[in-house]
Amino acid sequence: MAPALTTAEFTQTSVAAKQALRPTAILHRTPWRPPVARSAQGSYVTLDDGRVLLDAVGGAAVACIGNGHPEVTQALKDQVDKVSYVYNMQLSNEPAEELAKLLVDQSNGAFNTCGFVSGGTEAMEGVIKTARQYYWEIGQSQRKNFIARQLSFHGNTLGTLSLAYHPARRAPYEAILDHENFYHVSPAYAKRFQKANETEEQYVERLRQELEDKFIELGPDTVIGFVAETVVGATTGVVPAPKGYFKAMKSVCDKYGALFILDEVMSGMGRMGTLHAWESFGDNVSPDIQAVAKGLGGGYASIGAVLMSKKVADGIRDSAGFWKHGHTYQAHPLACAASLAVQKVIMKENLLENARVQGEYLGSLLRERLQSPNALAAPFTFDVRGGGAWWGVEFDFSGPEAARLDFKGEKFAMAVQARCMDKGLIIMGLTGGANIEGTTGDHLMLSPAYNIAREQVEKVVDLFVEAIEEVLRENTI
Ligand SMILES: Cc1ncc(COP(=O)(O)O)c(C=O)c1O
Repeated sequence: MAPALTTAEFTQTSVAAKQALRPTAILHRTPWRPPVARSAQGSYVTLDDGRVLLDAVGGAAVACIGNGHPEVTQALKDQVDKVSYVYNMQLSNEPAEELAKLLVDQSNGAFNTCGFVSGGTEAMEGVIKTARQYYWEIGQSQRKNFIARQLSFHGNTLGTLSLAYHPARRAPYEAILDHENFYHVSPAYAKRFQKANETEEQYVERLRQELEDKFIELGPDTVIGFVAETVVGATTGVVPAPKGYFKAMKSVCDKYGALFILDEVMSGMGRMGTLHAWESFGDNVSPDIQAVAKGLGGGYASIGAVLMSKKVADGIRDSAGFWKHGHTYQAHPLACAASLAVQKVIMKENLLENARVQGEYLGSLLRERLQSPNALAAPFTFDVRGGGAWWGVEFDFSGPEAARLDFKGEKFAMAVQARCMDKGLIIMGLTGGANIEGTTGDHLMLSPAYNIAREQVEKVVDLFVEAIEEVLRENTI
């Protein structure tokens, strides 16, 4: 994923301190030099100094079956001996064709065709261009506006940063982002933004009305589509929308002939315990176009995909007949072979069920250890949420109990992330997702491999809660 941390988020961990003077020719994305991984197997990563870490977040919700699965490594070896590269404008290749068929066949008719790219940002950039191409082809080239949401993340290119909205991540580039074609409405984040006197239905209706108002303000026939993460990840930390929200948003798109578009780069391909997150957390409303990436290749290769409904596929096929969007490494044979093998492992080992079962257990342990009345962290644990193999914990330090804490300018989420690393656990800290301005908020994210075992779930929670409690104790005045 993941947006580079700002200097304000810098936490000098003892691991980082040890690494600080290590020479490197890489301009890293963190203010510290990250430790170096030497080997990895399953959910365990061994560093060059011999320390072993348990990865509870799959890197960035990527390594969905862990490292070193023999069936995937074998598929990669076999493919490299067959065809390592062909250029997609000259030749297609067998694993790409098979993977595309699998994605279409698995979708129960939601998707009719797809195109491959090299990751999540490329998938979302491809989504933007595919949606625009669709209207270009069907003779509605006046459509030029996208409506996405505040507190969203869709990638790190200028196009995807323009589409998404997170003030801190946009800040250095704001002056060169596209402000002409990308607009934003409120996030669907009930725990923070549903009003006290509002029912869930009323909250959804308020958001639906806001989207419709934005369509009308822009001119409904200028809107290409509404874009949302089915479950929000890298900004607010695993936030599903209220029930009925996606149905309501899609109804506005349908009313004005625009596209309903989902970004499932992080939440899709099994992460929520169903193949597509919209099947469990999106009112079972299938999108016109969808991006997937992380769980598609499980980290064995850089791959993403743009999945297209029949409506979009027909619109393009009946006109130009081909995708005008492309890159040199699109549908790379090795990436597709790895991804195909990952998807086969998920099916063969029934891993979506394991993700649901162990995920439920993980969620229940988190609630018990962080929110039960005698839990040290309870006064500050604002929310524990998630589903499948993806859970977020949000903290809040605005209450009276927080008067006895002083983090000395450090961000709590980043201090806990660093402490976890010291204790041999990889998790992810996120900041700035609690208000629209992106200035407050501490969120921690867990997204283990779908094949995590029950004992590993317990180990993860033990280390995680210990780290949280240590940071709280050490900063109590
Ligand atoms: C919802 C969403 N979209 C897009 C991206 C960008 O993906 P990538 O980092 O693979 O380019 C991410 C990354 O975290 C994401 O969470």
